[in-house]
Amino acid sequence: MSDLSRRHFLKLGACLAGGACAGTVLPMAEASQEAKEASTLTTTLPYPRLKLVNISELEIRHEMRLTYPDVDSPISLIKFGTRILHGIGPEGDIVAFSRYCTHMGGHLQFKADTGAFHCPLHFAMFDAQKSGLMVIGQATDNLPQVELEMDDRGDIYAFGVKGLIYGRQANVLA
Ligand code: FES
Repeated sequence: MSDLSRRHFLKLGACLAGGACAGTVLPMAEASQEAKEASTLTTTLPYPRLKLVNISELEIRHEMRLTYPDVDSPISLIKFGTRILHGIGPEGDIVAFSRYCTHMGGHLQFKADTGAFHCPLHFAMFDAQKSGLMVIGQATDNLPQVELEMDDRGDIYAFGVKGLIYGRQANVLA
C-alpha cells in the first residue's frame, strides 16, 4: 500500500469511528469516479473480419505466414491434418497464432516436427496443437491464438485474437 493510500485508509478508519466522514469519503468517491472514467476510455476498436486464405492453399504441417489484425502483427496459420484443440475446418485441424513470443517479443519459428513454435532468443516453446500452451521457457503467457472461421467455399477468416499480442496495450488500437 502506498503512503498516500495508507494515510487515506487510516483517515477513513478514524472518521468512521468518529462518525464525521463527509469530508473524507467525498474525495474517495470522486477518485473512484475518475478511475471509472479512465477505465472506460476507448482504447480498442472492433476486430476486423479478414479473409486470410482458402483451405485449398494449405499444406499439411506447413506454416503459412500472414498478418492479423494489422500489418504490424505477424501470424502463422497451420493445418495439422489431425484434429487438435480449438482447430477449425472439416477436420478441426487449422489454427493460427501470433508469431511474437510472449516473453520479450522474439520472432517465433514454427517447427513441423514438434508441432510447436520455438523462440530463438531464450528458447521458449509454445505448443500449437494445444492452443499455444507455453511448454518450456521464461514466458509467462501462452501464445495469443487467432480466432478463425471458415465459410462454405473454404475461405478462412480471422475475426479476433485470444490473448494480448506482445508489445501492445490492446490488440486493436484506437
Ligand atoms: S523472447 Fe522468447 S523466450 Fe525470451
